[in-house]
Amino acid sequence: MDNVCAVILAAGEGKRMKSKHPKVIHKLCGKPIIQHVVDSVTGAGISDIIVVIGHKAEEVKECVESDVDFALQEKQLGTGHAVMCASDLIKERNGNGTTLILYGDSPLIKSETLCSLISYHRNNGFHGTVLTTEYDDPAGYGRVIRDSRGNVERIVEQKDATDEEKKVRECNSGIYCFETEKLLDALKLIKNDNAQKEYYLTDVIGAMKGLGLTIGAYSISDSTETVGINSRIQLADAASIMRRNIVNKLMLDGVTIINPESVYIDKDVSIGMDTVIYPGAIIEGKTTIGEDCIIGPNTRIVDSIIEDGADINSSVILESSVKAKAKIGPFAYIRPQSVIGEGAKIGDFVEVKKSVIGNGTKASHLTYIGDAEVGKNVNFGCGTITVNYDGNTKYKTLIGDNVFIGCNTNLVAPVKVNDNSYIAAGSTITDEVPEGALAIARERQTNKEGWAKKRNLYRKNK
Ligand code: UD1
Ligand code: CA
Repeated sequence: MDNVCAVILAAGEGKRMKSKHPKVIHKLCGKPIIQHVVDSVTGAGISDIIVVIGHKAEEVKECVESDVDFALQEKQLGTGHAVMCASDLIKERNGNGTTLILYGDSPLIKSETLCSLISYHRNNGFHGTVLTTEYDDPAGYGRVIRDSRGNVERIVEQKDATDEEKKVRECNSGIYCFETEKLLDALKLIKNDNAQKEYYLTDVIGAMKGLGLTIGAYSISDSTETVGINSRIQLADAASIMRRNIVNKLMLDGVTIINPESVYIDKDVSIGMDTVIYPGAIIEGKTTIGEDCIIGPNTRIVDSIIEDGADINSSVILESSVKAKAKIGPFAYIRPQSVIGEGAKIGDFVEVKKSVIGNGTKASHLTYIGDAEVGKNVNFGCGTITVNYDGNTKYKTLIGDNVFIGCNTNLVAPVKVNDNSYIAAGSTITDEVPEGALAIARERQTNKEGWAKKRNLYRKNK
């Protein structure tokens, strides 16, 4: 978008959140509120972005991933004052262009709507245009006051509104488009003689009118796009709208979601065609899921890559990658930095930590694999444990291809088990197992004949 700079206001504390952290860094659908706003602006093709920070500025700065400039509003004297604090930067970056202003607490705005607002503003030659919408319950929002001919006259905050003005349902979204020079002129005129003793950005509209400039309103019918987050209740409401948008888009792209109300999928998750998502799936962060997978029920996947055809049931997968057609669960726990090979099976009550599991390898039940490199086609018997920790240091277990590990085996690391070898059930392996060998590492059985009878310890049937 040519000659447009965006200013996002994020200096406020957000008292109504009752939080130790600034409001705009609270997360919804996997990302800080402010980052959603930045992403919408970037998505509209605007790369010149100024974020106004103030309250716990460092915390806000840290959570913005994108390349933006920061302006500091040391004291939070109102939204108008916040823009004044950015005015030098705005002049420097975009002195005679268009300035788009947004609030950092309204994360649902779509990039397309921002583009339409800017086109509407420019095509009509307005000096200032405010994005408005009608709420059934407009409580808390500034009301748009129009004159008898329907032209926007000013915006009045709820706290300053008369009873008559409070009845107006058309509200200020907090998103505006201004010709930069005129905005900077009008900002000089606003005062703080209002209920909150703040310099309201909303007063710029009335001030521009007073200067004889032209003001437009671009009204949208979907009021969910402009909801602002002031409290934790509004945070939950906004998250629920965003979640619905996310699952709708996935379904339109060919993903089956059996019960959309029951899944939690973050904004940056991508899912391939014909994958089926069962109820209770929680898919977070920057997770990528391929085509034809089955995910869920009751599965949590965070920051992971799941390849085509994988089947994951009632399991937890964190920061790991699962190759094509692997089967995980039910009740498996895949911890960070693990790779589960193609067609491998990690079954019930199996925990894998920081390990690579080769293609076709199976650990079907009750097994712990930690700090291990495991080859192809290995079979872990039920109850196998890599003994990776001596209370001080973690050690590695290396297992070759086609190894067969009997049930209840301890592999005391550091240890290596070479290709095609077998381990007898119940072994505690402390030494390297050669290629093709059978390792047995357990006490031989002794039977004491007649032992129970001699002691009169026969157990009676009751
Ligand atoms: C504001 C608008 C209201 C609009 C609503 C839309 C004003 C005066 N009111 O009300 O008309 O309907 O948003 O959601 O603009 N901020 C600063 N510095 C400050 C004060 C606020 O940077 O000194 C930032 C906040 O961090 C926040 C945003 O501006 O992201 C909006 O502030 P907030 O206090 O939430 O305004 P509302 O009362 O919601
Ligand atoms: Ca707000």
